[in-house]
Order: sequence, then C-alpha cells, then structure tokens
Amino acid sequence: MQTEQYNSKNDLTAIMVIFGGTGDLTHRKLMPALYNLVHDKLIPEHFAVVSIGRRDKTTEEYNDEIFEALQIYSRNKISESCWRKLRERIHYYQFDFTKQQGYEDLKIFLEELDKKMHTGGNRIYYLAVAPEYFETIVQGLHVSKLSQNAKGWNRLIIEKPFGKDLATARKLNDKLIEVFDEKSIYRIDHYLGKEMIQNIMVLRFCNSVFESLWSNKFIDNVQISLNEKHGVGSRGGYYENSGAMRDMVQNHILQILSLVAMEPPVNLKTDSIRTEKLKVIQAIEELTPEALRDHIVFGQYGKGMIDGALVPGYRQEEKVPPDSATETFAALKLYINNFRWAGTPFYIRTGKRLGAKSAEIVIQFKSLPNVLYFKDRHIQEPNLLVIRIQPHVGVFFQFNTKDFSSHHEIMPVKMEASHINDSLGNTPEAYERLLFDILRGDATLFSRWDEVEAAWMVADKIIAYREQKRFSFPNYAAGTMGPIRAFELLAKDGREWWNI
Ligand code: BG6
Repeated sequence: MQTEQYNSKNDLTAIMVIFGGTGDLTHRKLMPALYNLVHDKLIPEHFAVVSIGRRDKTTEEYNDEIFEALQIYSRNKISESCWRKLRERIHYYQFDFTKQQGYEDLKIFLEELDKKMHTGGNRIYYLAVAPEYFETIVQGLHVSKLSQNAKGWNRLIIEKPFGKDLATARKLNDKLIEVFDEKSIYRIDHYLGKEMIQNIMVLRFCNSVFESLWSNKFIDNVQISLNEKHGVGSRGGYYENSGAMRDMVQNHILQILSLVAMEPPVNLKTDSIRTEKLKVIQAIEELTPEALRDHIVFGQYGKGMIDGALVPGYRQEEKVPPDSATETFAALKLYINNFRWAGTPFYIRTGKRLGAKSAEIVIQFKSLPNVLYFKDRHIQEPNLLVIRIQPHVGVFFQFNTKDFSSHHEIMPVKMEASHINDSLGNTPEAYERLLFDILRGDATLFSRWDEVEAAWMVADKIIAYREQKRFSFPNYAAGTMGPIRAFELLAKDGREWWNI
C-alpha cells in the first residue's frame, strides 16, 4: 500500500458519515482502524469523519471517549501527533436518524464541511447500527438526496447481518438498490480484511507447488475451523436470532471456502474474482434429507471451565431464554460438485466457548501408497498445509523426511512460518484494510449481492432443518471442542480434526 500515491489524488478525499457513532463497533473497530491509518500515513489530507449519535454532547466530549477507546483497542500506541491529526477531522453530530428533518440539516452541515475541509463532495455513509435501522437510514439519505450528491461519489457501507434469511436479504437488497447502485454498496465481511484470508489467493496462485496439487486428485480433505473461546457476552439478544449458522457460516466461512476452492480468475479485477467465488458457492452440493441428518452437527454450550474459571452455559447468558434452541456450534461436511473438487469433502466447524481459540484452514493431501517405506513399521503422516488466520498468522507445512538420529526412521518435519498476533500485534487489523479500500473504491474484499444471495440459499436449508428439529441442548461443555458428534462426523470417514 503506497501512501503518497493515494494521498495526492483528489478522489481519495471524503467525508465519512458514521451512523452509530457512539456504538461499540465505532469505538472498538472503526476509530482504532482510522487511527492506525493515520499512523501509517494512509489517511488523505482532505478527510473528515462525522459521527452521528442521538445523545447530546460536544465534539470535545465525544473525542475524549474516542481517545479512551483508542488506548484500549488500537494496535499502535497512541502518539500525540497522530491523535491530533485524527481528532481535528472528527465532528460529532447529534441527530435522531429516525426523523426525516434531521437529514435535511445534516445535508447542510456536510456541504459546509465539504467547503471547509476540501473533501470534494465525496461521501461514505457507514451504517454501524442495528440492522432494523438500515432501511430507515437509506430512505432518509434518499429523500434528502444525500445519496445523490452529484459533486462527488457516494458509497454505502453496510455491516452484517445482511438479512435473516434469503427472503429478508432480498427485501433489504431491493431497498438498497433503489437508492445506491451495486457498485456503491460495500457489504462488509471483516474476515476478508484479515491478512491470511487475502493471502489465500497469493499462496495458491503464486506457488506452482501448491496450485498444481490443488484439486480432488491430490487433496484428501479440507478443514476450515473458526473456533472461539468467548461466549456471547452481552450480545445474547442478537445471537438468539442468529446462531452460529447466521453469525459465522453464512458469511465468513462460506467466503473463506470460496477463496480456497475458486478457479483462478481471468485477472485480479474485483468482478473477475467475485465471479469465481460465486461459482464455488453455487456448486455446493444440494443437501438431501440424509445429508442434513448425517453431515450436519449442531451444538450449544453448557457451563464449563475456560482458562481455569467456571463460565455459565448459553442458556444462562444475558437475554437468552432458559430453553433456547439456538446453536452456538455447527460442524458441516460439504461437497463442491465441480470438476476440480467432486469427491473431496470440506469439513467446517465453528463454535463459541470452545477449549481453544483458533481460526485456520487445513489442507490435507492424499497419502502415498503404503508400499516401500510405509509398508510395515512406518505410519504415514500426511502432508498438511495449514493456513493460520489467528491468533497465529502465517503458514505451516508438514512433510516427511529421514530421522537423522536413527538408521531407518521416517519423521514428519513441521515447517512453521507464522507468528503470534494478539490484538496488539503488528499485523494490520481487518478494518484498517477495509476502510482504506472503501476510500480508494476497491470493492474486491466486499461481498457482491449474488454471493450473499447464493450463501443464503445454502444456509437457509440448514437453518430450516435446525429449526424444525428439536435438538437436545446443551450438548457440549464450555471449554471442550464441541459435541461428540462433531468428532464422529470425521471418524465415520476415517479422518479427524487436525489441531496443529
Ligand atoms: C463476528 C461475529 O462477525 O465475528 C462474532 O458476529 C464473532 O460472533 C466474530 O465473535 C469473530 O471475529 P474475529 O475477528 O474475532 O475472529
């Protein structure tokens, strides 16, 4: 990323209007990301942030709160000079976004700010609010003509959940598309901003050793695990209507799956990449009633020990009913029915309150015939390529070699090219990359509508199955790696989850 190259261009100037300026997302993710962009000299000279909130407060008071949040959530230490550069660009603007008149006033405010900050009429409208407000705000922007500001470009940024199912997602999309064109809508999937997710295409398409083996001919199975130690915390209300399928599988996991399995795009343009990703989701084999029964595992955590402390079960969490049937864990076996992948299973798992926090993709290559070295006493360890997303970030590769300390032994060598990255590590946070891309108009790391639509088609069926069948929850204790059936899912196929 070249700072000066972009900073000098006028089309990088903008006002970023954050609806939900006093909310969690803004404090934890957006402002720290903006601060780190200032730190890395990626924020253009002519740039302003207008944070919208209902509460009455001055910009000074607002900035004091942001300053406190930055101390906690920024990956770089806060320096006086960088903070000054960000602070002087932030404006707190009080208004109730459910009232139309407020938009007319906001329009006047933004036009004046444009003149003062030389932001060229470019606007980013970031909806960091609960999804039930998306339509109201977009309508407000439309009626006040804020969305058609002709002097510059207008971009709409929308956080998940994008609908609750295919029908509601379509309805929402129809509303958005009446006001903004598809190219101006940036649907955030923050996993796509993570370094190692962006690295999937580089690893595949820049290494002949991987790409030439990347198919059902050489790959035995693929495992994608997004495991979390956290419970739902204060988000019980949201999670109750979501569950692991809507929260993680429909978006983050299917996006990762599509990057792992896609064909090489014809070039690196946004739509070429998105088109190949879409084809993967469309090729996911339809789940028959038998597949739903045998290839899908749901779980919900009960109380248990995490890092030596007793934690409550999901049903005891705030805003969760004591008989909740929501899944906090899902494991799936999927097949991608295309020429490259037919027959190779993709195992997926994600869950809350698991015994380990890790996000990784394991590519297990097929074993060699059990002759020669593997004939009798040597057990064959498969070649494994592990793409570590977090907390380790990097790549692990396992291959076999001679054990030099003995005469006849074979041993697996584990090559690790990764580093540990906690929130204060040195790897840029996903939101930094995503905000920067929004600013320069690169939508590659955002989901196109047809990708979201195809993902809902897959997820809807699985969610409907969960909803019509009562599972006996809770079925795993906090601090374990999920329900027993999740292990059986692989054991039935003679495989196991890799915990490298
Ligand atoms: C969010 C989910 O999209 O992703 C959360 O709503 C989840 O429930 C989070 O905890 C995980 O993201 P990360 O970046 O912490 O792995």
